[in-house]
Amino acid sequence: MPRIVAVSSSALNDAAQILRDGGLVAMPTETVYGLAANALDGVAVAKIFAAKGRPGFNPLIVHVPDVAAAEKLVVMNDAARLIAESFWPGPLTMILPRAEHCPVSDLCSAGLPTLAIRVPALKATQDLLRACAVPLAAPSANKSGSISPTTPKHVADSLGDTVDMILAAGACDVGLESTVLDLSGDVPVVLRPGAITAEQIGHVLGCDVGYDLGDHGGADVKSPGQLLRHYAPAIPLRMRAVDVAPGEALLAFGSTRFMGLRGGGAASALPEHALRNLSENGDLYEAASNLFRMMRELDNGQNSGIAVMDIPDTGVGLAINDRLRRAAAGSVK
Ligand code: TXA
Ligand code: MG
Repeated sequence: MPRIVAVSSSALNDAAQILRDGGLVAMPTETVYGLAANALDGVAVAKIFAAKGRPGFNPLIVHVPDVAAAEKLVVMNDAARLIAESFWPGPLTMILPRAEHCPVSDLCSAGLPTLAIRVPALKATQDLLRACAVPLAAPSANKSGSISPTTPKHVADSLGDTVDMILAAGACDVGLESTVLDLSGDVPVVLRPGAITAEQIGHVLGCDVGYDLGDHGGADVKSPGQLLRHYAPAIPLRMRAVDVAPGEALLAFGSTRFMGLRGGGAASALPEHALRNLSENGDLYEAASNLFRMMRELDNGQNSGIAVMDIPDTGVGLAINDRLRRAAAGSVK
């Protein structure tokens, strides 16, 4: 088992030392746990790809403590500055052209002329970034293709001893990966929906901002991560379920009063191993923060599949449905 250490000033100093020495640290953020390495050190960044089993064509997000640090790595245009003022620190990543003398390892960009950059909000992440004083490359701290971790235990279960230390700060507040906003082209476009919506971004930029989630397939996919089988539990998952089949688990949202079991009975009669509710009150933010943990809990060897109740496709519901669609597509076996 890897070393799991609760955040404290000595734990932060240890983690910073490991990172400066070229090691890997799983770090908490407000979105999901990240697998961090010194972004300036190509050998350290290569360890991330090896630990995750991540294809080399899939670039990484680089984390910095503030806008001033971002300006050293990427070209911030006017739109990027506006977005940074409104949403940083926070659960939003911008894709921007690499600065001319950007010191970040080319491996982070996977050969692209752009870099994904984020200023995280969680105090522990900020403290770690300041303690190690280098930008940190950090994808989600899970094996490539599986569900992102929202607790330290998820990280340990997924990555085991390939990580030198897990810095633990409890469960992640947001629970979904950051919104990825591409500002490197002529029009701003959201490549991965998250807690910050295209609508909120459009409001700040004063224009309509759309999504490009790569679901059209083909060669013009903008974010390499969109090509991958993703966020998949080991058992089939189906969306917009109106009833539950024998052997299936139910991932509920809101009231289960009208959910029945095929063959008779009410959903509320399902055993504990086969029933989770993302949010009994129908709160989408609560649902987002519970999503990955509950998907893992239902993928427990006792259920043959997961039936998910309908989740409204508005606000952060869009991001939840994006993750569910990828899980459903990935789990057809
Ligand atoms: O919330 C998050 O963003 C978490 C925490 C740890 O910050 N990180 C995370 O990283 O989710 P990762 O590697 O799992 O997802 C990064 C996504 C991938 O889909 C990747 O393809 C895309 O961002 N990406 C990274 N660099 C890119 C670039 N230069 N152009 C287009 N897409 C990029
Ligand atoms: Mg990931």
